[in-house]
Amino acid sequence: MTDYRWNLTAAATGYDQVASVIHPHYREIQDRILARLPVAREEAFSLVDAGGGSGRLLERILEQYPQSDVINLDQSPAFLGLAERRLTRFGDRARCHLVRLQDNWDRFLDERPRYVVSMSAIHHLDRAEKQAFYRRCFVALESDGMLINGDEVRPESDRDYLDRLQRWAEHMQQVMSAGRVPTTMQPTLNGWIERNVERFGESKTSGDDCHETVAAQLGSLQSSGFIEVEALWYQEMWAVFAGRKPAT
Ligand SMILES: C[S@@+](CC[C@H](N)C(=O)[O-])C[C@H]1O[C@@H](n2cnc3c(N)ncnc32)[C@H](O)[C@@H]1O
Repeated sequence: MTDYRWNLTAAATGYDQVASVIHPHYREIQDRILARLPVAREEAFSLVDAGGGSGRLLERILEQYPQSDVINLDQSPAFLGLAERRLTRFGDRARCHLVRLQDNWDRFLDERPRYVVSMSAIHHLDRAEKQAFYRRCFVALESDGMLINGDEVRPESDRDYLDRLQRWAEHMQQVMSAGRVPTTMQPTLNGWIERNVERFGESKTSGDDCHETVAAQLGSLQSSGFIEVEALWYQEMWAVFAGRKPAT
């Protein structure tokens, strides 16, 4: 998987630098995930970020909750290297593990997490992999724990889906033309446009952007055992949705 787009150092460092330029709602989705963590500032809890990349969301969680203990699971050595540097100031409150979300990542857990959060990562899993991942989260979480995912989604209609993809592609082209994206990162964005817009309609496999509707995602959460599944926010290509593991 060394040629997988998120394993290239240029893609990881570029995304780390300009995610909020490329992704029109990057900070807002982080804010919504943070707002859904229903804990008091001084409470101790354990949390997993699935596909946590360079650790930007975890950094905010560690700052906001001084007793929190977090794990970043990601399949990219390049992203994890950035995360380790970013999170080193938090000492052993933050740990990073190189692992695919399709694999048995729960072997890295010392205790059951109260939360699994994720942003812009799970849509890289195909439908069956997502379902298996959500089920693994359900089993791993502590009683009354929560999964919160801020991810890319698609609308039901193909026409609407293509329109939204095109709008995001235009946004990417604008920020590249304006010199706001490092040149080393630009092939990653052009590859995204080629795969998602120019080759729209071609079948997708694991590792592609395997977008699903919010309804399909909520259905997967429900069939994995989660209750109180809900979409907290939804706009264009992005949604934040969550489910709770029943208290036992
Ligand atoms: C667009 S980046 C988002 C990173 C981070 N969550 C953020 O919001 O800044 C996608 C991340 O998902 C990770 N990823 C993609 N597929 C994965 C998989 N199958 N298993 C683990 N991580 C994966 C990539 O390595 C990358 O770090």
